[in-house]
Amino acid sequence: MSEHKVIDESKQGEAFMIEQPVVSNGKKLFLESYGCAMNFSDSEIVASILKDKGFTTTQDFNEADVIFVNTCAIREGAEQRVRKRLTDFKRAKKNNPDLIVGVLGCMAERLKSQFLEQEKLVDIVVGPDAYRSLPELIEIAETGQNAINVLLSKEETYADIAPVRLGSNGVTAFISITRGCDNMCAFCVVPFTRGRERSRDPETIVKEAQDLFAEGYREVTLLGQNVDSYLWTGGGLKKDNLSHEELNNATTFSQLLEKVALVNPDLRVRFSTSHPKDMNDDVLYTIAKYENICSYIHLPVQSGNSRILEMMNRGYTREWYLNRIDAIRKIIPDCGISMDIITGFCSETEEEHQDTLSLMETVKYDFGYMFAYSERPKTLAERKYKDDVPAEIKSRRLAEIVELQLKHSAERTKEGVGKVHRVLVEGISKKSKEELFGRNSQSTVVVFPKENFKIGDYVTVLADRCTGGTLIGKAI
Ligand code: 5AD
Ligand code: SF4
Repeated sequence: MSEHKVIDESKQGEAFMIEQPVVSNGKKLFLESYGCAMNFSDSEIVASILKDKGFTTTQDFNEADVIFVNTCAIREGAEQRVRKRLTDFKRAKKNNPDLIVGVLGCMAERLKSQFLEQEKLVDIVVGPDAYRSLPELIEIAETGQNAINVLLSKEETYADIAPVRLGSNGVTAFISITRGCDNMCAFCVVPFTRGRERSRDPETIVKEAQDLFAEGYREVTLLGQNVDSYLWTGGGLKKDNLSHEELNNATTFSQLLEKVALVNPDLRVRFSTSHPKDMNDDVLYTIAKYENICSYIHLPVQSGNSRILEMMNRGYTREWYLNRIDAIRKIIPDCGISMDIITGFCSETEEEHQDTLSLMETVKYDFGYMFAYSERPKTLAERKYKDDVPAEIKSRRLAEIVELQLKHSAERTKEGVGKVHRVLVEGISKKSKEELFGRNSQSTVVVFPKENFKIGDYVTVLADRCTGGTLIGKAI
C-alpha cells in the first residue's frame, strides 16, 4: 500500500503457503485471496484454523484436495475476475473428482445459491464470520453434499485465533481490530457482506503485537473498515447510550493506538482505514506523541463536492473534510496523507467533478486509490439512485483524477529529496540485489545500497534523488 495506485483487481489473487502442521491429515489446501487487506488478514485466520486440523498447503492447485478462494465484492470487476477463476477450478475437478472447491468472503452471501445450485461451480460457501465452521463444512462436502454457512455474527472477532502469517516478509503484519461496518455509505456493499461493526478485545490486540515483536516483526498495521469508531466496552455490538461508567471503562481508538505503541519503541504502528467523520484530534495528538506511530493517514474523501457526499451518506461535507486535513497538518506537520476517490457517482455533474479535482489541489495527497463508480446490489445507491453517468465519462473523469494524483505524488516525493528518512527495511529491491527497500514513516518507498544492512533493520537514509513515487538515497 505504498505508491500512488489505481487499485485494480486484475492483480491475480495471491496463493499462500503455510508452515507444515504438527500432525498432517495428508490433505493439501490451495488458498487464494482477492481484494483488501482485511481479506488477506482473514485468509491468515482461515490458514490457522485449517493448519490446526492438519492441512498442509500447496501453491499448485492441480495437486490440491481443497481449494478456497477468498473473494471480494466491492466492485463488479472484482466479482467477474473471481468468477473466471472459479471456472478454471471447476475444470480442475474433471481431473480430480474428489477435489473440493470453496468460496469464502464477501461474495458468499449474495451468490451462494447461484454458485452452489444453479451453476454448481463450488461445493462450499462460507461467509466472513463463519470460518470456525470450515473443518465441519469440509467434512460435509466430502460426503458429496453442498456445505454452506453465511451467517453473519454480532460477536465474532476471531480474537483468540493466532493468525498464520501468509506470504510474509517477517517484518510487517496486519492485526485486525474491528470487523464489519455500520456506516452504510450509499455505494458500499461491505455492510451487507461483512455485517455489523464489532470491536476486538484490546488485550488480545496488544498480545498479538507483543508476539509479533518477539518473532522479529517490526511493523503492525491495525485494520478496520473505520478504525476511528473502534470502541471496546466488553464485547458485542456498540451501544448508542453508554453510561458514564461504561464510557470511563471503554477503550477508544486513540487509547488502543497508545497501548500498541507502548509494546516497544522499535515496533512501528500503522492503521487503516480512517474515516473523516470520526477522526478526532485525540487520535492526531496520540500519533504526534509517539515516534513509532507512523505519520501517515489514509483518509478516503470519495468526492470533493458536498452534494455528492450527502448522497453518498458519508456524514461530512467538503468543508468538514478540509478542516480535518488542516488539523492533521497542524498537529502532525510531516504527515503523509492518502485518499480513496470514486468518480462518476450517480448524478455527478462536470462541475462537481471539478470540485473533486480542486480538493485534490488543496490537499496534494501523497498517494491515492481511485475508482470508477460501480453499482452494487442491495446498496442504498442501487435502491435510491440511477447509475446515470455514462461509462466513457466515468473513465475520462477517472483518468483526469489519476493524472493529477500522479503529478502530486511526484511532487510530494520530490519534497523528500535532500532529507533524512528513517527506513524500516522490508526486502531486497526488485531492480538490484545490491539494494534494499523499505518505507519511511510517511509510507513512501525508499531504496538504498545494501551494504551490511538486512531485512528488519531500521536504517537512516539521506535521499538524494527520486523517481515517480520512490526515494533513492544512501545510509548515513
Ligand atoms: N464503486 C467504486 N468504488 C467503490 N468503493 C467502495 N464501493 C465502491 C463502488 N461501489 C471504493 C471506495 C472505498 C474503497 C475501499 O473502494 O473508495 O473507500
Ligand atoms: Fe464501506 Fe463506508 Fe463502511 Fe468504508 S466506511 S466499508 S466505504 S460503508
